[in-house]
Amino acid sequence: MCGIVGYIGSKDAAELLLNGLQRLEYRGYDSAGIAVLNGGLSVLKQKGSVSELEKALKNSGQSEQSIHEATAGIGHTRWATHGDPSDRNAHPHLSADGGIALIHNGIIENYSAIKKELISKGYHFSSDTDSEALVHLIDSIWSDKPEIGLEAAVRAALYHVEGAYGLCIISQQEPDKIVVARKGSPLVIGIGEGEYFIASDAAPIVEHTKKVIYLSDGEMAVVTRDGYVIKTIENITQEKHISELDFDLAKIEKGGFEHFMLKEIYEQPTVLQDVMRGRVRLDEGQVRLGGIEDYLDRLKLSSRVIICACGTSWHAGLIGEYLIEEFARIPVEVDYASEFRYRNPVITKDDVVIVISQSGETADTLAALRLAREKGALVMGICNVVGSTIARETLCGIYTHAGPEIGVASTKAFTAQVTVLYLLALTLSKGRTMSREEIKLYLKELNGVPEKVERILKQDDMILEIAEDYKDARNFLYLGRGYNFPVALEGALKLKEISYIHAEGYPAAEMKHGPIALIDEDMPVIFIATRDNSYAKVLSNIEEVRSRKGKVIAIANEGDEEIGRLADHVIYIPAASAPVTPLLSVIPLQLLAYHIATFRGCNVDRPRNLAKSVTVE
Ligand code: F6R
Repeated sequence: MCGIVGYIGSKDAAELLLNGLQRLEYRGYDSAGIAVLNGGLSVLKQKGSVSELEKALKNSGQSEQSIHEATAGIGHTRWATHGDPSDRNAHPHLSADGGIALIHNGIIENYSAIKKELISKGYHFSSDTDSEALVHLIDSIWSDKPEIGLEAAVRAALYHVEGAYGLCIISQQEPDKIVVARKGSPLVIGIGEGEYFIASDAAPIVEHTKKVIYLSDGEMAVVTRDGYVIKTIENITQEKHISELDFDLAKIEKGGFEHFMLKEIYEQPTVLQDVMRGRVRLDEGQVRLGGIEDYLDRLKLSSRVIICACGTSWHAGLIGEYLIEEFARIPVEVDYASEFRYRNPVITKDDVVIVISQSGETADTLAALRLAREKGALVMGICNVVGSTIARETLCGIYTHAGPEIGVASTKAFTAQVTVLYLLALTLSKGRTMSREEIKLYLKELNGVPEKVERILKQDDMILEIAEDYKDARNFLYLGRGYNFPVALEGALKLKEISYIHAEGYPAAEMKHGPIALIDEDMPVIFIATRDNSYAKVLSNIEEVRSRKGKVIAIANEGDEEIGRLADHVIYIPAASAPVTPLLSVIPLQLLAYHIATFRGCNVDRPRNLAKSVTVE
């Protein structure tokens, strides 16, 4: 949520900041702004996209030149929490004399109290944001004791703050530094040659340098052209490890596709191979998951697995439940991370809690992780973003290796998560519930999935035609059973989040218990009707929908002629056993949602109100 970028060096800071903001726009796109140090402190901010901000800069004539002279500055792209998306609520926020600029990602929970006190001291507020309170607080502390300097003023202000923040602050009084601080909202420092970058994730940094430092919660840094000093908020100096980014620029560009989402859907065959690479030994029937090896015995002995996640990752978790219970016979519960932490759950030292998160930064998932750790459970992570907070705070874990996912709607991260869960379930089953020969067969089948996904992608034109027929529908129902039930949920989520069509996912058999009342000639129903043990029952459900004049779009296995007679449209996927089916059945649903959304003129990569990484509760 909210993208943060900072630069200090010798190059045109404004240009670097705007470019960085473009790369971060998937984190929030209500408004954007930059502040640069060019002798004074110049600010440009407004409602709307980064490209609109760029245009505004070009139209600003004389001041444009002086802005481009700056070699240090900060930039922000906003996902609104407090205050509507507007020019006045856009970041950076300024102190009353315009001498300090601040950008903030997160929520200052006690901002009302801080604001009230500052107003009583004569401060005026020009926005509705919680963030503005902080810049005035810093200003107030610094004005009272001018000798302490910016860093100490920020530190003192943070003692008063409750809530979450990723912050960058600059001041024209100390123009050769950027002060940054983190609690609950990620920040990365990129180390270049005589230049430094700051960002809320590595996307805007990777084209400049691969050397990065991930700040931890409770840390501050002062970044200058000569280096950086990292301390805790309590002023204790920290030695930090420099990490190497493991992706390049091509991974965060569209590569000829119209949208990131489409590119990411098409990347899935490669991604699934990447998930397996180095981990699967087909001929030996072996899986090697380095990140959990040291804890394997403990994992296998656990009395229960609890999976916590949000959104699409939660859907992957549901499939994980089916996989782990079927393969390893360990009981599994799946919780929304946001519910888990607030319902006083029973967690024991014998439990394993698996948190799943693409971004590794989701606030609710992180809070669930911390709660589980506090209660003594073994906490394991399944994350995509290397070095993310969740990846660092879990005791052990498995990276999904899906590469950066930029489209706000998650696609390749989902199939990568499911693949990891499949490998995990097989690993847990080894020596307990499955023989090596059985594992070998399951691995062989998984190994064939990328090629099957390729085959499904080849039907894209046909799926596009179906999308055109249904682009004006107002509601959709998605039904599936067994492993396809979470896929139905995921298909419905994809459609609603990018096309704004109301869609519900249900277990097919539950239709009779309520949703059937909705069926009429205007209700398209998507059935995932692959040949598994509930196939015959799902066919009966299709009949029930047809007899109420509902339109049926079926996802079925190749060669299934019967379904061709029942459904209005059929999208065929290759035959597969039930546990690998979600990796195939979800692909047409991703494409269908994508095409319906583009027919409706929606911005699929940046759906309204959403942000890629939900770092607030
Ligand atoms: C949907 C989507 C969201 C995320 C959810 C969790 O397409 O992307 O529902 O899945 O916000 O995010 P992560 O996986 O980053 O924790």
